[in-house]
Amino acid sequence: MEKSGADHEVLSLYIESFNRMFAQSSPQVMRDAAEAVKLFLTRKVVDHFAYEERHIFPALLQANPGEGVRNRVSEIQAEHKLLLKEAKRLDKILAQEELAYDRAGFLRKAMLDFLHHLEKHASRENALFPSLM
Ligand SMILES: [Fe+2]
Ligand SMILES: [Fe+2]
Repeated sequence: MEKSGADHEVLSLYIESFNRMFAQSSPQVMRDAAEAVKLFLTRKVVDHFAYEERHIFPALLQANPGEGVRNRVSEIQAEHKLLLKEAKRLDKILAQEELAYDRAGFLRKAMLDFLHHLEKHASRENALFPSLM
């Protein structure tokens, strides 16, 4: 359970560091930042969602069998699907051979939008299972 709460807390640090990396104009720094984003997407987010769906949601539903919690878990699972779609879209941008400067700006905005969506999602989860965080 701690794993999930800690991941939520580091989101604002990710946003800060992506902002710093993307503020650089060097193509190499931009490239490295893009790789870091990609690593974040493929490892952290996918693993985090899978962990919640495999361990946290079932435990939560077992402890709170009511319809209210079940509906909110369904909503959160639907958000996972949407966020993973958004992550795939970002992955496509990152897969481009050359990250041209204008595309880098586009990537920066898309990545920050995604991180802000993740933040909103995490705070909804924190409200749903505060005792597990
Ligand atoms: Fe989640
Ligand atoms: Fe989460």
